[in-house]
Amino acid sequence: MASSGIIVFIFTVLCICAVKSGFIKVECKAENVGHYGQQSLLECVVKTSSDVTDPNIRMVAWKKLTSPEDEGDLVLGFNRGKLDEPKRGYRFAEPSWNEKNMNVSLLITNTAVADNGDYKCIVITDSGDDSIVTTLKVQAKYSISTVYSIPKKIVPNTDSTLVCESHGGYPQGTIRWFDEENHEWTKSSEMEAKQSDDGLFQLTSRLPLLRASTFQKYICAVFNASGGREDEKTFETNIPSSRESPEEQTSSAYTSKVVAPLVVIGSLIIGLLLLLLYKRQSQKTRRNSTAPLMGGHRHVSEALQDVEEGYNSHEDEPINQDQS
Ligand SMILES: *[C@@H]1O[C@H](CO)[C@@H](O)[C@H](O)[C@H]1NC(C)=O
Ligand SMILES: *[C@@H]1O[C@H](CO)[C@@H](O)[C@H](O)[C@H]1NC(C)=O
Repeated sequence: MASSGIIVFIFTVLCICAVKSGFIKVECKAENVGHYGQQSLLECVVKTSSDVTDPNIRMVAWKKLTSPEDEGDLVLGFNRGKLDEPKRGYRFAEPSWNEKNMNVSLLITNTAVADNGDYKCIVITDSGDDSIVTTLKVQAKYSISTVYSIPKKIVPNTDSTLVCESHGGYPQGTIRWFDEENHEWTKSSEMEAKQSDDGLFQLTSRLPLLRASTFQKYICAVFNASGGREDEKTFETNIPSSRESPEEQTSSAYTSKVVAPLVVIGSLIIGLLLLLLYKRQSQKTRRNSTAPLMGGHRHVSEALQDVEEGYNSHEDEPINQDQS
C-alpha cells in the first residue's frame, strides 16, 4: 500500500514538473494592427525546447477578452483532434492547419470594430502547455462626406456657419479647419463625435463665420487618432469680391507674379529720383537762404537739414554705442 502511494506521489510530481518547467512556450507579436473590413492576423507560434521531439498539439483555444480578468469568449477552438465549430469569420491562418503545425496564428477574415482588443491564446501539447495575451488594434480610415454652410448661400456681412461631416473612422479622430492661407481656425470650431452601430466614429464640426472676417476658401481636414491627415475638402464661400472664374484666377495670379516685381522696381526708381530732386532742391535753397527776403525758404531748408542731420546721427548711434 505504502509503495503504491509513493509511486502515485512521484508520478504526480513528475507530471507537475513536466508542465511547470515550460517545455513549450507560445510567442506572439505583442501588437497587431488590423484594418476595418479587411483580414487581420494575430501571429502566434508554439516554441518547444530542444529536447522535445515531434510535439503534438492537443488543444488550442483562442478567446476574445472583454476585460483582463474575464474568462473570454471562445472564437476558435481545437480539441481532441477536431475543430470546434468556430465563430464565423475566425480561423487558423495556416490554410490546412493540423496538430503538427506550431503556427497557431488566428485570422479574422472581415475585421470589425468589435474585434479591437485583447485575445488569449491557450495551447496544450503532449509536452506541456502555455497561454499568452495579444492585442489587436483596429483602424478605419476617415473620409469627409460633406462640407456645407448655414445658410446655404453666404451673404456678405451676415453671420453664417460652416459644417463639415466625416464618417467611417476608428479610433476617434479630429476635424480641423484652415483658411486659404493655411491659418488654423479649429479653436473657433466645435466638434461632436458619435459612434454608429458598427462602432465607427462620425465626426461633425461647426465653424462660425463672423461677418467681415470671412475668407474666400476654407479647408476642412480630418486627422486620425495618431495625427495623420486622412482626408480634406475645400469650401468656397462665394463672396462676391472673390467670385472669379478659374481662368481669371490663373491670369490674375500670373499678372500679380509679373506686376509685383515691376511695382518694387518702379517705386525704387521713383524713390531715387525723389532723393536726387530733394538733394538738388536743398542745395538751391541753401544758396538762396543767404538772401534775407527768402526767410520762408530758409526755414524749410533748415528743417530739411535738421531731418538730414537727424537721420545721419541715427545712423551713427549704433557705432557710438559699440565704442562706449
Ligand atoms: C504563420 O502563418 C501565417 C499564415 O500562413 C503567416 O503569415 C505567418 O508568417 C506565419 N508565422 C510564422 C512565424 O511562421
Ligand atoms: C494615422 O495615419 C497615419 C498616416 O496615414 C498612419 O500611418 C497611422 O497608422 C494612422 N493611425 C491610426 C490610429 O489610424
